[in-house]
Amino acid sequence: MTKLDRSNITGIIGAGTMGRGIAQIAATYGHSVILQDISSDVIQDAKTSLGKILNRLEEKGRLERESAIEILDRIQFVNDLRLFQQCGLVIEAIIENLEIKKELFGEIEKVTSEDCILATNTSSLSITSIAAACQKPERVLGIHFFNPAPLMSLVEIIPGVLTEEFTVKTAQSLINDWGKTTVRAKDTPGFIVNRVARPFYGEALRILEENIADAATIDWAMKEIGGFRMGPFELMDLIGNDVNLKVTETIFEEFFYDPRFKPSFTQKRMVEAGLLGKKSGRGYYDYRENTGNPNPKEDTELGEQIFLRILMMLINEAADAVFLNIASKEDVDLAMTKGVNYPKGLLQWADEIGLEKVLTELEQLQDEYGEDRYRPNPLLKRMVRNKEKFYD
Ligand SMILES: NC(=O)c1ccc[n+]([C@@H]2O[C@H](COP(=O)([O-])OP(=O)(O)OC[C@H]3O[C@@H](n4cnc5c(N)ncnc54)[C@H](O)[C@@H]3O)[C@@H](O)[C@H]2O)c1
Repeated sequence: MTKLDRSNITGIIGAGTMGRGIAQIAATYGHSVILQDISSDVIQDAKTSLGKILNRLEEKGRLERESAIEILDRIQFVNDLRLFQQCGLVIEAIIENLEIKKELFGEIEKVTSEDCILATNTSSLSITSIAAACQKPERVLGIHFFNPAPLMSLVEIIPGVLTEEFTVKTAQSLINDWGKTTVRAKDTPGFIVNRVARPFYGEALRILEENIADAATIDWAMKEIGGFRMGPFELMDLIGNDVNLKVTETIFEEFFYDPRFKPSFTQKRMVEAGLLGKKSGRGYYDYRENTGNPNPKEDTELGEQIFLRILMMLINEAADAVFLNIASKEDVDLAMTKGVNYPKGLLQWADEIGLEKVLTELEQLQDEYGEDRYRPNPLLKRMVRNKEKFYD
């Protein structure tokens, strides 16, 4: 195979939140899609919900009626993997469990043709480890979509240690053709977005724990002063504190307990108390009917202090991703603006603030707390010493 295009059948395994979204994207582009799940109920639900989504797009005038019908017609909803033989690309989006994914990849390899590209949508598992379940790990890679997949433009492309360059280029080129913005990331915990974004939550939680400000005030500072679309606590409530904590815990463990990623007791207790966020009715905010929430303390000086501290930690993490060759500076900035809607690329932001100021702020935090968590990245130190910027 030289290139993947509309004529190739796309197989998707797992018809849950992500699988059905990816199926919608592939079918909209023009592929015939085979969407498989072990649960017949999920398959039925995926079919109904995709029908509704396409109807809504049609009502809003974003799709012609005929196109909506064609898109749904292109998707086959199935229970078994036998039809995957003709696929050019298979994307796996099942439960986040390494052993189950590995077992599945062994199976997929048996039912697909030799040159079919096999991808996993895992958020946190090692691509290399999943690929190791295959006879031909060179054709396996990570293609990481964000939720909701049809709306979020970013896709992280992650080669495993043994993935061939041809596999990466072919897959990346197709996902670009699907209209997505792709960035390439090294196979390391959290890839780009989930790793670099950690301090947005972690440092906000520290500020809360130190009683410098309450959740509403921290959210206000990040939105009003920082220009972020959502504050960290609103976002944790939306993601679910259980899900957010799990991601942090996984990254912390996978980084061999680097204190930079240390999870927060406050968040752990919130989860233990069942305060999961919007989905449970209460989190940092109360979402039940007829309940109010505290107003932020709109103190600009305090707000700037909060915003700067969180931003410095985000920049430090972005610099580390470049320093350790996880991704290019351009891809790190693109990932954070397109993947989590940050108002600016973090490294561009660092340039605008001045790297010297960024370094001084981090040094002051490290000096005050004496914690390794605040250690400034060597790349920042080196760049300040050489009077360099990330972009000219
Ligand atoms: N939800 C997100 O925000 C998000 C974002 C990016 C990536 N991801 C990743 O995408 C993957 C799927 O996540 P999700 O949120 O769609 O999960 P989900 O629970 O909504 O769906 C998973 C589906 O996989 C099915 N399944 C389980 N084992 C299977 C098997 N052996 N064969 C076929 N189907 C099987 C389940 O029946 C279920 O319908 C995970 O790896 C997750 O880490 C999730």
